[in-house]
Amino acid sequence: MPDDMLNAMAKPTVRVDGAAKVTGLACFPSDEPVENPAYAYLVTSTVARAEITSFDLAAAKAVPGVLDILTHENVGRDIKPNRGFGMSANTTTLEGTRVWHQGQTVAVVIAETFEAARDAAARVVVHYETQEPSAGFGSPGAHEEPATPMFGPLPQKGDFDAAFAAAPVRVEAEYETPTQHHNAIELFTTTCFWEGDTLTVYEPSQYIYGSRAALAEQFEMAQGNVRYVSRFIGGGFGSKGPSARTGWIALAAKRLGRPVKLVTSRQQGFTTETYRAETRQTIKLGATRDGRLTALRHEGWELTSRPSGYNVAGVGATATMYACDNIQTAVNVVHADRNTPGFMRAPPEVPYMFALESAMDELAFALKMDPIELRRINDTQVDPAHGHPYSSRSLMQCYDQAAERFGWSERNPEPRSMSDGDWLVGYGCATATYPANVGPASIRLTLSKAGTVIAELAGHELGTGAYTVVAITVARQLGLEVADVTVHMGDSTLPPVALAGGSNNAATISNVSAIGCESVRRRLAEAAVADMASPFGGKDAAVLRLEGGNLVGPGNLTEPLVQSIERVGGTLTVEADYVPQGLPPEVMDALRQGQAVMLPGHGRQDATTAAFGAHLVEIRVNRHTREIRVPRIVSAFAAGTIINPMAARSQYLGGAIWGVSSALHEATEIDRRSARYVNHDLGEYLVPVNADIPSIKIIMVPETDTIVNPLGIKGIGEIGIVGMNAAIANAVFHATGQRIRKLPIRLEKLL
Ligand code: MOS
Repeated sequence: MPDDMLNAMAKPTVRVDGAAKVTGLACFPSDEPVENPAYAYLVTSTVARAEITSFDLAAAKAVPGVLDILTHENVGRDIKPNRGFGMSANTTTLEGTRVWHQGQTVAVVIAETFEAARDAAARVVVHYETQEPSAGFGSPGAHEEPATPMFGPLPQKGDFDAAFAAAPVRVEAEYETPTQHHNAIELFTTTCFWEGDTLTVYEPSQYIYGSRAALAEQFEMAQGNVRYVSRFIGGGFGSKGPSARTGWIALAAKRLGRPVKLVTSRQQGFTTETYRAETRQTIKLGATRDGRLTALRHEGWELTSRPSGYNVAGVGATATMYACDNIQTAVNVVHADRNTPGFMRAPPEVPYMFALESAMDELAFALKMDPIELRRINDTQVDPAHGHPYSSRSLMQCYDQAAERFGWSERNPEPRSMSDGDWLVGYGCATATYPANVGPASIRLTLSKAGTVIAELAGHELGTGAYTVVAITVARQLGLEVADVTVHMGDSTLPPVALAGGSNNAATISNVSAIGCESVRRRLAEAAVADMASPFGGKDAAVLRLEGGNLVGPGNLTEPLVQSIERVGGTLTVEADYVPQGLPPEVMDALRQGQAVMLPGHGRQDATTAAFGAHLVEIRVNRHTREIRVPRIVSAFAAGTIINPMAARSQYLGGAIWGVSSALHEATEIDRRSARYVNHDLGEYLVPVNADIPSIKIIMVPETDTIVNPLGIKGIGEIGIVGMNAAIANAVFHATGQRIRKLPIRLEKLL
């Protein structure tokens, strides 16, 4: 691979699908045209813990236009349960009589129109035998047990108890993070139709091959007989994964012999899909008087449903942040009568780094030390939990550049010491991190006579600019313009790509694109050197390169690319696979079968790979009203190669904004008696508005990483949000002297 691709800061590129998106031409799954669809509407349980004793469907069936009503009584055994790629399958719906949580799907009404389906759904009468539900932590009947960690064993090292007992400076604290719900603009949708034995599904998915595999298994059919299409996703963030709804809509379409389309309501999205579970955490830090960490203990409790052990176990991240010889971690799950949680942007890091980075601030205060200095003293180039060197780690460069831009040196360390009229002013900081995960993928590239390229891969566009990432990479590698490249993604008839999760997407699809391009270059170069009539006849194919629309060789040898293509028959198609170093070649088969395969940032023996960043924020708290404002944020990140600085900046901004939301606004309220979500819509679920969003400066710290993957890309999908909640909480402490350990920080907590 040419060296000049490594860490070259590409020029900002307007996204190739931008015009389609703003003009409505971009086809999101529920926009896909289907002929004569019937419409589905979900009936959801009104109680949280019950057995269904019977249904009364007479009134619903009497609604004109009703075509079918699915309940466990008529379809329960027709398909197998959705296994959800083995990760976080939600509590199931129509298989039996058990109601696991409020808002569980208990019936699906199909009608000629959406309105008729909705009307009939409201007339379905469900008889329950109810029991007292447990809403969450501390509820009678909630069941606590040690977690089976989802992302590998929990870090343990040295002798924490002895080191903590001996530490001259100690911090101990408890933190809480709330329930948060996915509120992407695009709702949860599914459209299905059958043609003979072949099923087509239009549904937003962060893993097309995985969703296809899960569905094929439910119907016990060959994966090749399911076509799964998801060309654009209107916000994923971890929510657009496997869902029980897909199987029921596919079954409804089969029973009716006609396409069926479901668009769930926003309120139904709160209970039929996944969410970020509430956590409770305890941290103990021991340090020397000069600030070196000698002992770290981090334990978490995470809420989950009755049947699932889902957990995110973010101690895997916090235990690798700073040099420390004695580390002890533990994670527990608490089962209650709630729907199963699932991934939400930086699932482990958002709640757990809140606790660690708040505790680090508490330690800095106890030591009377600048909080950035404390991070510097404990910075490390070796992953403390796994013992491997980092492939690169530029955390302190991030802090230093952010501090310079922010004016951190103006900070008076004393809490409540800075003010401006009626406003108390606080400066706070926190570290961001996210593992550099990467997955296997394959691609097909077709070069035409005209010197244009079609790139085809079953990749995922979640709004992050993935089409553009592929177009930029292919254009650069083949010496073409971005406009010369057409990218097709989001269809299971295309070559498979790993799930778009864990921020691997850009690294995965860029590296496979580059490998495909290298194969194109080699084919054209080999044909050129074999052609004695060409300027390259008899030369070394390895040194020929593609540049500016030409095949170029040593000296001034140049041939227009169209001629090189003519030589191989006027068109050239190559297929290529990318298997990340550290994964066996068999992962390509697993990928084709729709299994969730990815190399995690700590999955290699030679290096731990992760991106790092630093958030610096200014907070203002009104002396009288306790209103909280965030006038400015400076965030710096080092994440290896940046492919498109324009899209990268947007991604970082989005992360920072959600971080502000997570610190100050967001929480799903739960009625403890009924185990119901109370504020389950955008009218009452608080998110920031424009007036809440301050000046945000993003610094992209240059970082060259030749180890992480061939193109040196770490991925930036999730890091932007990580630690922002702690940076704001730390600034609130600096402004007011009040340490808030329970998110969100709303003004009543500062009264
Ligand atoms: Mo992300 S929460 O890995 O989609």
